[in-house]
Amino acid sequence: MSTSESAAAKVTIDPSFTVGPVRRRTFGAFVEHLGRCVYTGIFEPEHTTADEDGFRTDVLELTRELGVSTVRYPGGNFVSGYRWEDGVGPVEQRPARLDLAWHSTDPNLVGVDEFAKWSAKAGVETMMAVNLGTRGAQEALDLLEYCNIDGGTAFSDQRKANGAESGYGIRMWCLGNEMDGPWQIGHKNALEYGRLAADTARGMRMIDPDLELVACGSSAPTMPTFGEWERVVLTETYDLVDLVSAHQYFEDFGDLQEHLAAGHKMDSFIRDIVAHIDHVKSVKKSKKQVNISFDEWNVWHMSRGESKAPSGQDWPVAPVLLEDIYTVADAVVVGDLLITLLRNTDRVHSASLAQLVNVIAPIMTEPGGRAWKQTTFHPFALTSRHAAGTVLQLAVESPLVSGGKTADFTALSAVATLDADKGEAVVFAVNRSATDALMLDAAVAGLGNVKVIEAVTYANKDPYWQATADDSTSVLPAQNGSVKADGGRLTAELPAVSWSMIRLALES
Ligand code: AHR
Repeated sequence: MSTSESAAAKVTIDPSFTVGPVRRRTFGAFVEHLGRCVYTGIFEPEHTTADEDGFRTDVLELTRELGVSTVRYPGGNFVSGYRWEDGVGPVEQRPARLDLAWHSTDPNLVGVDEFAKWSAKAGVETMMAVNLGTRGAQEALDLLEYCNIDGGTAFSDQRKANGAESGYGIRMWCLGNEMDGPWQIGHKNALEYGRLAADTARGMRMIDPDLELVACGSSAPTMPTFGEWERVVLTETYDLVDLVSAHQYFEDFGDLQEHLAAGHKMDSFIRDIVAHIDHVKSVKKSKKQVNISFDEWNVWHMSRGESKAPSGQDWPVAPVLLEDIYTVADAVVVGDLLITLLRNTDRVHSASLAQLVNVIAPIMTEPGGRAWKQTTFHPFALTSRHAAGTVLQLAVESPLVSGGKTADFTALSAVATLDADKGEAVVFAVNRSATDALMLDAAVAGLGNVKVIEAVTYANKDPYWQATADDSTSVLPAQNGSVKADGGRLTAELPAVSWSMIRLALES
């Protein structure tokens, strides 16, 4: 795409092209005991904004504004060496432990009870992960008993004694984390993991048959075991789990056009996972449908210094780790990844942006100081706030772009949601061209008469602009004056490297 006049992408939006519901769980995030996500992130008792439980209320407010639904906890790689019992009971008696995953020390000031309290204050649903690295089914069952049984058993009475009268009623449970990865403590092959996950799930279902259980899928599409891992794990667990996890991170290696292919790559990863799930379903002649929990996704500049863990004799508490500072281009990618998750709402039933605070996160904090929004905060918050009702599949005819190793993907990535009760349709669109503006030309007659309520675009002359604690507001989503709706057509100019949201009122 390289014309001086904007090329056009033709789109048809029709209310009968439905994919499935907008799921609130698409807007999940992740809090891991990693770097400063917990300590000086969500929890900092000495902070001026801290509440009676030591939680930073400035972070709680930003979490609510971000519109997060579910929060996965406590890891991540961390969970594969975690003893949950260390984090409950009187704080002064809790042991400090080595966290091997991140070469840090965990003081265990925050554990499942504190996290449950924080979740209630933030208004989010907890998604709990159990350790299937160094531990097994028994410890997972103990944790489930501690969390969800109201009382009358050893662990549930212990929770009551620790101050929580009723069980937490946690519905979603991850059976370990990234067990396909050789970096994982207690890494297993697919059959070893599949059997352990099945045993654990079987026991958990004896306690509560209605839990929603997530088996570990692949930690990246580039894993040499991807596909075969899903086949073997699901062969062992198909009837016992509801979801299989997917993890995927994207890095900007300096080729912006290639970086903007992230949504296209996620789309093809999802299609492949669906094929692997449905293969097992078909072989088993099962009526049950397993779906995807995309429980780690984001831009992560993994090869940069920010991700270097401490080493040697240095085992710090809450070190600065994975504190990537995001650009406007990264935010456009995040917006596109959310569009991709929504577009696949028929099979992606849950997702978690990794992570929430400080660690590859939309929210940053200074210890003892300010909390501020990264660029990636904006598309997430706006999509979470305005996507509602039903997801519509758009018919798209778009110019193609190519970058680096990724050839011929559409410049336009878009999805629409339709909230019939509210009488509102919302179009989310990304122009993935690194160089050229794109005209969006949408046939919207199927929606009846429409009026533009709001049209905002996030872009900047310098796509590498980054927010900082001192200036997190000089580049914000701004009104897009080019957007028009008239005579069954919606038109908009989408600048290169941009994310846009157009809200339409359906006139009756
Ligand atoms: O989110 C950071 C890390 O990425 C998680 O701990 C792990 O699960 C993944 O590799």
